This record gives sequence, structure tokens and C-alpha cells, in this order.
Amino acid sequence: MGVQRTLSIAKPDAVSKNVIGEIYSRFEKAGLSIVAAKMLRLSREQAEGFYAEHKGRPFFPALIDFMTSGPVTVQVLEGEGAVLKNRDLMGATNPKEAAAGTIRADFAESIDANAVHGSDSEESAAREIAFFFATSELCDRV
Ligand code: PPS
Repeated sequence: MGVQRTLSIAKPDAVSKNVIGEIYSRFEKAGLSIVAAKMLRLSREQAEGFYAEHKGRPFFPALIDFMTSGPVTVQVLEGEGAVLKNRDLMGATNPKEAAAGTIRADFAESIDANAVHGSDSEESAAREIAFFFATSELCDRV
């Protein structure tokens, strides 16, 4: 698998609960390094573009409302098998189904407000990282 990069978002519920630090700490303890990070408030256009693959699904309008309801942090995580490692740390999309000790089990309330996003493949990661960051904003940690 090798060293990968993946895109992570701490969603508005996680930011408003003041648990960004705890979430970053989980990444770092699992051997993932943060190589880019910023806080921003997504515009509707940005949120709709980022989640374009879900357009037309019943939850799409609520997802866009939620993702634009407050600031988020977006970060690029780097490490061995980063895509899958981050998905394991996050837990299942629905926090009620998320394994104990995962970010969503510990910090998320519902499938609508589920604390974090993580790229689901290397291909998605490349697209999602480029959505938020210029290549020059990705730091070489080695
Ligand atoms: S799916 O159903 O397998 O395509 O779901 P997934 O790939 O996990 O992506 C769905 C994203 O939409 C968010 N979301 C919801 N999904 C399902 N049902 C409801 N009601 C819902 N509300 C919001 C979900 O958190 C996924 O967002 P990300 O940011 O990718 O985790």
C-alpha cells in the first residue's frame, strides 16, 4: 500500500464541540501526519461541488445545509495506508453503527452530523485534496 495522502474534514459539529484537537491527536497517535490544514466556512457552491456525487440523493439538501452551517477544518493526512487508516479511525458513517473508540462513536450525534469526513479511496483523495489545496500548500514532512 505504501505511504498515502488522504483528505479529512472536521465537520461543523466537531468544530462547535471544540474537539478538533482530540481528533488531530487520534490521527497523530495512529501514525498519520498532518501535512496541510486550514479552517474555513464552506460556501454552498463549495459544498455542492465537493459532494457533487451525492446530488439528487434525498439527504443532499440537508447535507449541504449542515456542511455550510459553521466553520470546518480541512486537513491532509499522510502515512502508511492513510486512506484506510483514516476510515478505520472515523468509524461507520452512521455513528450508531460505529465501533467503540472510533471518532464517530465518541463525538458524533447522528448520520447527518457525523463529525468527520475522510476520502474513501486513493482516487477520491487525489481529487478531494486538489479541491481544497494547491500543491504548494502541501508540506513535505520528511
Ligand atoms: S453512501 O450511502 O454509501 O453513498 O454513503 P457515503 O459514501 O458514506 O456518503 C454519504 C455522505 O453523505 C453524508 N450523509 C448521509 N449519508 C447517508 N444518509 C444520510 N441521511 C446522510 N446525511 C448525510 C454522509 O455523512 C457522507 O458524507 P461524508 O462527508 O462523505 O462522510
